[in-house]
Amino acid sequence: ALPRDLVGRRVVVSAGGTREPLDPVRFLGNRSSGRQGHALARVAAQRGADVTLVAANTTDLPVPSGVRVVRVRTAAELREAMHEAAPEADILVMAAAVADFRPESTAPSKIKKAGSDPEPVRLVRNPDILTELVERRRPGQLVVGFAAETGDGTGDPLHHGRAKLARKGVDFLLVNVVGDGLAFEVPVNSGWLLGGDGSERRIPVGSKNLLASTLWDAVARATAGRDRG
Ligand code: C5P
Repeated sequence: ALPRDLVGRRVVVSAGGTREPLDPVRFLGNRSSGRQGHALARVAAQRGADVTLVAANTTDLPVPSGVRVVRVRTAAELREAMHEAAPEADILVMAAAVADFRPESTAPSKIKKAGSDPEPVRLVRNPDILTELVERRRPGQLVVGFAAETGDGTGDPLHHGRAKLARKGVDFLLVNVVGDGLAFEVPVNSGWLLGGDGSERRIPVGSKNLLASTLWDAVARATAGRDRG
């Protein structure tokens, strides 16, 4: 049986990948399926948490039982949903793959291929939602970020992860090793869980539920003494 160590904890998890529209039928997207975020929400609910899942384009996946879902498509919608839910939450987990850039404008009708040469797409930066959540966090609120790192040998993912944890000011950073049949579009995941207290846990290749359990073990321990509900 799973531990019931998240009873009374209000958790918000973002999942999936945002889609930034080019026109009414096209978008810039990414390979995130939302499976890891859904697993985080499912396991948190099983351990007793009150869970809101902010789900970006994960309509193919079942909604975990007992979990409240807010559906979003773009980074702007995800940002609004997170800021709406965050003030009531004890724990925020940003597992969604948020687009760093969006097209400067969305064409009001389908971009035509006939007649003219293709236009370059101008991109503008999206706000970093995780950084905003950390800036606005309320006392005692715990914030977890994700970082996708390609384990391609060009530098040390842990070194990058440590720097990112400090830069973003999060309590935990899940450094995800992506690529090579890992993380995206597959049921398995792996990486390291880095804590703001200097802790470091390796998560071997395994199911997304396993990674979720490891993350909730650490978060439950870190929040163990705090008031509930
Ligand atoms: O800086 P980087 O994009 O690697 O950070 C990844 C983390 O930041 C993830 O937790 C992701 O959900 C979050 N993020 C965000 N807003 C963005 C880009 C990333 O909240 N615009």
